[in-house]
Amino acid sequence: MAEIVGAYFTSHVPGIGGAIHRGDQQTPYWKPFFDGFPRVQEWLCEVKPDVAVVFSNDHGLNFFLDKMPTFAVGAAASYANADEGWGLPLYKSFKGHPELSWHIIEQMVGDEFDPVTCQEMLVDHAISIPFELAYPGAGEWPVKLVPIGINTVQHPLPSAKRCLALGRSVHKALASWQGDERIVVIGTGGLSHQLDGARAGFMNKEYDLFCLDNIARDPDALTQHSIADIVRLAGTQGVEILNWIAARGALGPQGHEIHRNYHAPISNTAAATLLLEPG
Ligand code: DHB
Ligand code: FE
Repeated sequence: MAEIVGAYFTSHVPGIGGAIHRGDQQTPYWKPFFDGFPRVQEWLCEVKPDVAVVFSNDHGLNFFLDKMPTFAVGAAASYANADEGWGLPLYKSFKGHPELSWHIIEQMVGDEFDPVTCQEMLVDHAISIPFELAYPGAGEWPVKLVPIGINTVQHPLPSAKRCLALGRSVHKALASWQGDERIVVIGTGGLSHQLDGARAGFMNKEYDLFCLDNIARDPDALTQHSIADIVRLAGTQGVEILNWIAARGALGPQGHEIHRNYHAPISNTAAATLLLEPG
């Protein structure tokens, strides 16, 4: 039987990729952020996942404002990275796990979520950077990828409640998967940040800590806020917390925190890293 080994959550700011490329991890600006990752790397060596189910938002590589699926699931044999225009190096490709992707899609549709199914998909910084942080210097990624995209960009966005329910549907799929893979669930993005408009640079430590404190023990607490509330509390891009909420649902009913790091700001973002184990 497959086993869900835990959940890894992290911010996905493109500037992290630049810092890695330049070798700036130990500089005063970046050190407090990168200090959150030795524990993540150690933990991954201990739990040895071979599949990653990753909840993130596309930033324009696959979908733009003209066509924006609320939920999209990758079902490709491989996923390449492509130039996003941030001056980032091109990242390694991922091997996919189309059989598990389709199993998840079947469950989601059975639960009336109706995602877009993508037999071709590119991955952007929202997926590549969390892996660069988790497996620094890896020749190739040691896990296969199932990417699940959530619209956090073009309103109307799915509610926090809907994203938690989506994650719980994915949990059902993982729990009924007959393979013997070790599965890590990943949520990327956030925490509070706003890149545009009059509040550009907005961050909110109080709301971030509310999310960090509740995601393990009471994720339903995060669903009390509407999308308008979350935009107000976390900023226009802070709604990427939806990816964390869905990933938390996919972990299963119980989760306990084994590691966290919070540091603000990096670039325009209050950055956080969190590890949960099931049970
Ligand atoms: C930044 C944060 C993001 O989540 C993103 O996708 C792009 C940029 C930032 O803080 O610079
Ligand atoms: Fe983002």
